[in-house]
Amino acid sequence: MPPTPLPVLPLAPSLIPPADEVPALVHLTGVEQEIWDRALPYLDVRDNDAHSLHAYGLAWALLTAVPQARAEVVLPAILLHDTGWKTVDPARILPAIAPGSHDPETVRRHETEGAVIAHRILTDLGYPQDVTARIMEIVDGHDTRRHALNTDDAVVKDADKLWRLTPHGLRTVGSWFCLDAEQTLRLVLSVTYDRLLTETGRAIGRALAACAGLDHSPRRSVLRGRAPSASGEHTG
Ligand SMILES: [Fe+2]
Ligand SMILES: [Fe+2]
Repeated sequence: MPPTPLPVLPLAPSLIPPADEVPALVHLTGVEQEIWDRALPYLDVRDNDAHSLHAYGLAWALLTAVPQARAEVVLPAILLHDTGWKTVDPARILPAIAPGSHDPETVRRHETEGAVIAHRILTDLGYPQDVTARIMEIVDGHDTRRHALNTDDAVVKDADKLWRLTPHGLRTVGSWFCLDAEQTLRLVLSVTYDRLLTETGRAIGRALAACAGLDHSPRRSVLRGRAPSASGEHTG
C-alpha cells in the first residue's frame, strides 16, 4: 500500500530568518571578494569556478576548527589554487587527472602557472609580500605534493579534496569520466580519503561519504521515486 502523502504547509516568508541571522553561512567579502573577482577569468575551465567557491566554503569551515591555520593565507590560496588550469590545453586536462594518467607534467604546469597568476593578482591588490609568498608555496604543489608544508597548506589541501565528496563534486567528477553515481563515489573515495591531512577534514570526509554512500544503499533505493513528503526526507 503506498504511503499517505502529507499535505504541504506553505510558510510565510516572515518566518524565515534573514541570511545574516543564521549560523554557518559563508560570505565572500572584502579582499577575498576582490581576489575572487580577479581569479574568475582564470577559473572558467573544468568547472573550476564552482569548485573553488565550494572549496572556499570548506576551507572556511575547516578554519573554525583548526585555529593554528591562518585565514589570510588559506582563503586566498584556495580561491587561487586552480587558476593555472587556464594555461593548459583543455584537451589535456581530463587525461592528465584521470586515474592511471601518465602526464604529471600537465598537472605540475597548472600548479606552477597558478603560483605565477596568484602572485600577479595578489601583488596588484597590494597584498602583504610575505603572505603572498606563503600562498604561492601552497599553490605550487597543492596536488602533486602529498605532504603539507604547514597547517595552512594542510587546510587548503583538505578543502580542495573534500569538494570531490560534495554533491557538486561527485556530479562533476562523474560527468568528466562518464561514471554513474555509485562508481563515482568509489573512485573519489579511493583517491581522496587517505589523503586528508587534518582530523577535522577526515571527520567532514566521513560525513560526506556516509551520506553519499547511503544514497546508493539498497534500503535507500527502495525509497527512491517516492514523493519527498512521503519518503521520510524531512528535517526532524
Ligand atoms: Fe589543482
Ligand atoms: Fe582544486
